Amino acid sequence: MIELPIVQLPLSSPSSHTPVSLHTHRGIDTQHHIGGTAPKVYVETYGCQMNVSDSEIVRGIMQASGYALTNTIDDADVIFLNTCAIRDNAERKIHERLMHLKYYKKRNRALVVGVLGCMAERMRQELIETKQIVDIVVGPDEYRKLPELVRRASFGEKGIAVKLSRVETYDDIEPLRTDGISAWITIMRGCDKFCTFCVVPFTRGRERSRSARLIVDEAQRLWDSGFKEITLLGQNVNSYYDPSSDTDFADLLRMTARAVPQMRIRYTTSHPYDMSNKLIATMAEHNNICKYIHLPVQSGSDRILQAMNRHYSVEHYKERIRTIRTYMPHCALSTDIIVGFPTETLEDHRMTVELMEEIRYDGAYMFLYSPRERTKAWKMPDDVPHEEKVRRLNEIIDQQQRISHEINQQSIGTIEQVLVEGPSRRNPHTEWQGRTDTNKVVIFPHRTDAAAHTRLGYAVGNIVHVQIERASSASLFGQVVG
Ligand code: SAH
Ligand code: SF4
Ligand code: F3S
Repeated sequence: MIELPIVQLPLSSPSSHTPVSLHTHRGIDTQHHIGGTAPKVYVETYGCQMNVSDSEIVRGIMQASGYALTNTIDDADVIFLNTCAIRDNAERKIHERLMHLKYYKKRNRALVVGVLGCMAERMRQELIETKQIVDIVVGPDEYRKLPELVRRASFGEKGIAVKLSRVETYDDIEPLRTDGISAWITIMRGCDKFCTFCVVPFTRGRERSRSARLIVDEAQRLWDSGFKEITLLGQNVNSYYDPSSDTDFADLLRMTARAVPQMRIRYTTSHPYDMSNKLIATMAEHNNICKYIHLPVQSGSDRILQAMNRHYSVEHYKERIRTIRTYMPHCALSTDIIVGFPTETLEDHRMTVELMEEIRYDGAYMFLYSPRERTKAWKMPDDVPHEEKVRRLNEIIDQQQRISHEINQQSIGTIEQVLVEGPSRRNPHTEWQGRTDTNKVVIFPHRTDAAAHTRLGYAVGNIVHVQIERASSASLFGQVVG
C-alpha cells in the first residue's frame, strides 16, 4: 500500500497567524453579526455522487457555524467549488470556472473563494500559487476546518488544509440536504484498490467505514422526514466493514432494508472483485432494494484488466453477472469503460466490444483514458493516439446506444412502478418524470382532470403505475394506469 504524504501548510508567514484586518477586506465574523444578516455561502459541485454528498456535509458544517446558504451566486460572500480530478477535462472545467469567478471577486473584494474536493487535494498549494483568485484550498477530509479558514481568509490570510485522514467519516455531521425525496448517504470514504489509472486513492485517501448503527438511524430519520429513496455511497461499497458491530455491506443493506421497508434503497459503486454471493442474495431477498447494479468492468481484455490492477478476469466478471441474473433475472446493469488505456490494441478493444455485446448492459459510462499524475499508469506510455481513442469511444457509444434502445423496446406494453420525481426536464409544463427501481427514467403526461390527478397519485414521492407505450435509448414513455 502506498503511504500518502501528509501536507498541511499555512501559506502565510507564521507572524500573520493572528488575523489582521486589511482595509480591502471586510472580514467575516458570524459570531458578531448584530442586527445584520448571516454571510452567505454558495456551493458549486462537480464530479461524482460522493462530491454531491460531501457538498451537503460542507453546507451542514457552514450552517452550524452561522452561515446562510444561497443558490444565487450574486448574493454570495463565500463561493466554494467542490471539484473533481478524475480526468483532465474535469480539471479543465474548474480552471475555466475560476476565470469566470474573477468577475465576482472584482465586484466584491471581500469575497472568499474556496477550492474544495479532489482537485484541491491533488494540486494543493499550486492552486493558491497559480490562481490569485483562490483564497482557500481544502481537501475532502478537512471540511471541519472550513469555517475557521473562511474567517481567516476574509481577513486576507490564504489557507490550505489537505491532510488526509484514516478516521474522518463526518459521522456526527448532519448533512444539509436539498433534494426532496432522494437522499445520498455516504457509508464509507476513500479507496484502497489502487487501480493503476485512478487518482481517487490519492485524493480521498484510505478506506474507512461509518458505523452501521448511525447509517441505519440516518435512513430512518430520512424516511420520517419524507424521503422515499436513499443511495448508499462509497467508491467500493463491497469493502464496507464496521468492526464495532461486525457488519459487512450485505449486512448493512439488510439492516437498512428492514429498518425502512417502504424506502427504495440503492447503492453505488460495486467492485466486481468483491461482489459477493451474500450481497446478491440479500438484494434478491428484499423488494425495497432496487434491482439495479452499476458494476464497472473497465475493459474486456484480461491483459488490460491486469495492467489496470483490477484484480479480476473477464471470466470472473461474467460469472458474477450470471449469478446476478440467476438470482434476479430482471436486474438492470450498467458499467464504466475506459478506452485507450496504455498498450490497448485493436484486439483488446474488440474484446471490450464483444463483452458489451454479450452482457448487454442497460447503460454504460464510457471514457477516454486520461493520464493522471501519481498513478502507476502515469509512467506507462500513453500510446493510443487521441484520434484512435476517440474512434474507439464513438464505436462503443454507438453500440451501447443501440443495445439500450433494444432493451428499452422490450418494456413496451409492461406496467412499471414509478417513483414520481417531478416535472420532466424537457416539457415541465406538460409532463412528469419518475424512475423505475431498475433506474430507468419514465416520462408521462400531466392529467388535465384534477380528480384523476389526485386519484392516480401524481405527486412527487408517490409510486404510480405507468403502462409503457414507447421507448428511446434513454427513457420510457407511457400513461399512468393506477
Ligand atoms: N470507484 C468506482 C468509480 C470511480 S471513478 C469504481 O471503482 O468503479 C468513475 C469511473 O471513471 C471509473 O470507473 C473509470 O471508468 C473512470 N476513470 C477513472 N480514472 C480514469 C482515468 N484516468 N481516465 C479515464 N477514465 C477514468
Ligand atoms: Fe478508482 Fe479503482 Fe478505487 Fe474505483 S476502485 S475509486 S476506479 S482506484
Ligand atoms: Fe471526481 Fe473525486 Fe469523485 S476525483 S469522481 S469527485 S471521488
